[in-house]
Amino acid sequence: MAIRIDGKLISAQIKDEIKEETARLKEKGREVTLAVIQVGEDPASSVYVGNKKKACEYVGFRSLAYELPEETKEVELLELIQKLNESSDVDGILVQLPLPKHLNEDTVIATIAPEKDVDGFHAVNTGNLWIGKECFVSCTPAGIIELLKRTGITIEGKECVIVGRSNIVGKPMAALMLKENATVTVCHSRTQSLKDVTKRADILIVAIGKPHFITKEYVKEGATVIDVGIHRLEGKKLCGDVAFDEVEPIAGAITPVPGGVGPMTIAMLMNNCLEAAKRKG
Ligand code: GUN
Repeated sequence: MAIRIDGKLISAQIKDEIKEETARLKEKGREVTLAVIQVGEDPASSVYVGNKKKACEYVGFRSLAYELPEETKEVELLELIQKLNESSDVDGILVQLPLPKHLNEDTVIATIAPEKDVDGFHAVNTGNLWIGKECFVSCTPAGIIELLKRTGITIEGKECVIVGRSNIVGKPMAALMLKENATVTVCHSRTQSLKDVTKRADILIVAIGKPHFITKEYVKEGATVIDVGIHRLEGKKLCGDVAFDEVEPIAGAITPVPGGVGPMTIAMLMNNCLEAAKRKG
């Protein structure tokens, strides 16, 4: 039976470490501030934003919430971001995605000052990630590296297969795994013989957005399986991209959904905010 990688526990440890460091900064008169912008009322986004605010409270950050109406004009949003870029009180800026269709996500992300881009989505940060320079790293892939390291899973020299090539997860995940000296393959919707490729993986990272897609035929015995997906089934139960019940018996280690990768994303966001504040000095 596989080791269950406990993202809930590991993320709680990380948040406690951040809380301690934040308290030490506060003693020196430094507060950490995250500005969170949500445009419109997408219910899933409201839940994520609420969780981010709660995490800020827990670790002792100040959070500034900007809840803008659905019909906000792009120029208004860009002006707000500029104002936050210039504010010396603000360490991190996060614009919750997806944005309403009339707003251009690329323009919005490009407007956030790279040194306040705690999501790690700005081209300066993604570019620096690929050339191995200091940068903010997208929180979900950064969280996966932490999960592997803190569970004692060796990355160096391993065959890592990533399924999914998004800018938020798949691509930065590939850069991070390369940095850790894994041999990396990125699969996507046009990959042929996907099962043959995923079966090579010592570490299989799945971010395709299809419930229960990865069945046991896709997995090598003893592999570490990381499930980034989260879906709500009809009976309201949550599940991932991996068919957990049939993959767990053959995997060496596996993340559950919920309680695997999900909680790590927010812990790493808190980590990036603290880092932004420390870099500012
Ligand atoms: N929407 C879904 N995931 C994310 C994330 O990590 N950051 C932001 N800003 N929006 C998201």
